[in-house]
Amino acid sequence: MRKTIKLTVNGKIKTVDADIRMSLLELLRDTFNLVSVKEGCGAGECGACTVIVDNITVDSCVYLAVWADGKSVRTAESLSEGDKLSVMQEMFVDEGAVQCGFCTPGLLMSATLMKESGKKYTRDEIKRALSGHLCRCTGYQKIVDAVDKGLKKKYEN
Ligand code: FES
Ligand code: FES
Repeated sequence: MRKTIKLTVNGKIKTVDADIRMSLLELLRDTFNLVSVKEGCGAGECGACTVIVDNITVDSCVYLAVWADGKSVRTAESLSEGDKLSVMQEMFVDEGAVQCGFCTPGLLMSATLMKESGKKYTRDEIKRALSGHLCRCTGYQKIVDAVDKGLKKKYEN
């Protein structure tokens, strides 16, 4: 069974005929070619597929595409403007928080939403907020350093 849905993806309105069983992850990767959205576990456990839907982070592997009807979806492709990286992307690079990079887009979406909230986070709160993300390369320390610095850095506009 299929359903026509209309959603905003990275600021652009899209109308698409989607199988009602299709995940948002499949829609983003296979239909819109947004390959920053990674499939790790496919079961809502690793955070690699994290995207922002109407200002909430969701695991897009366990979120149906049809649930995004009428909503706004953001992926890591939306973070940079041309060659200009977002504050969080810059911090991940500067702090060496990226190794294989598989977990990075999902982490960046969570970190971006934390930054947009304007809230102050302690290091323990940062660790808790990122606890849904698994990284098998970095040991997490550099990721927490990057997010901590990104949260403290002022926007330069
Ligand atoms: Fe979605 Fe792991 S691929 S949480
Ligand atoms: Fe490889 Fe995190 S950098 S999984």
